[in-house]
Amino acid sequence: MLDLVVVPEKTLPAIHFISNESSSGQLKRLEGKVAIVTGGAGGIGEAIVRLFVKHGAKIVIADIDDAAGTHLANSLSSSTIFLRCDVSSEMDIQNLINFTVSRYGQVDILVNNAGILGNQTKHKSIVDFDANEFDKIMGINVRGAALGMKHAAKVMVPRRSGCIISTASVAGVMGGLGPHAYAASKHAIVGLTKNAACELGSYGIRVNCVSPFGLATSMLINAWRGCDDQGEDEAEEEVEKVEKRVRSLANLKGVTLKTEDIAQAVLYLASDESKYVSGHNLVVDGGFTTSKNCIDL
Ligand SMILES: NC(=O)c1ccc[n+]([C@@H]2O[C@H](COP(=O)([O-])OP(=O)(O)OC[C@H]3O[C@@H](n4cnc5c(N)ncnc54)[C@H](O)[C@@H]3O)[C@@H](O)[C@H]2O)c1
Repeated sequence: MLDLVVVPEKTLPAIHFISNESSSGQLKRLEGKVAIVTGGAGGIGEAIVRLFVKHGAKIVIADIDDAAGTHLANSLSSSTIFLRCDVSSEMDIQNLINFTVSRYGQVDILVNNAGILGNQTKHKSIVDFDANEFDKIMGINVRGAALGMKHAAKVMVPRRSGCIISTASVAGVMGGLGPHAYAASKHAIVGLTKNAACELGSYGIRVNCVSPFGLATSMLINAWRGCDDQGEDEAEEEVEKVEKRVRSLANLKGVTLKTEDIAQAVLYLASDESKYVSGHNLVVDGGFTTSKNCIDL
């Protein structure tokens, strides 16, 4: 927080600022906080981890991708650790919370970000609905988030403080923006967020979610192209292709949605700036879900 101190004119010409800025001049909005980011090894989760680290948080990256998670943790501060965790497993989630508490003494922030889209091309129509695929998607996207809330709440309630943020999607705001199971899972996250916020508010714990529009992470790149491995140049081209397609679908023109933009929204919900915000779905879609076509009135 910035504190304005007016000093006498004779000693200094104007106004001097005292703040909790880092040496790079950036305000550290999560100084001293302990955060868990599921699905933090890549994509949106990675952007959240990177931004949280810049803002002084101690982080546990929880993911099933050991190589990417370990590499990311090692490339960041010494207070960033990777722990393998499949969010659909209650034992893994319990272990994640216990590990974080034993390592850092507390859990201030849980970001339930891990999620999968499912096989978009194979089971697109409701008549081809695959119940096993549905269970898998719900198991990771919804059960994973609910288990995260359960075990985080167990350690947050006694401290009467904490903050839980889940990654939903525009596919959880309106229909037609993803496969059926995925859309159902993201609507469920919005509902779960509101219900948990209702209960946990009594303990000073805030529960929110963010709903991004399309981002060129491996999730969308794979869904829009097939899944063959590519070289670095080709991968860059794929990112540009997906961003171009998202820009063409977007309502807000002249900007490209980046994972860093979602990380900024999550940072806001995790920090004290949003101290009275709970049960909220922060939609980051450039106005896409608020109207179909603008009528020129
Ligand atoms: N990319 C988009 O356009 C978009 C839009 C809206 C919402 N989202 C949501 O954002 C979140 C992150 O997606 P992303 O785009 O970064 O995808 P991504 O595929 O790039 O990253 C997902 C991460 O989750 C991890 N993960 C997958 N299953 C897991 C499990 N069972 N346990 C733990 N970790 C697991 C993966 O290893 C990966 O690191 C998801 O919940 C997704 O539904 C993405």
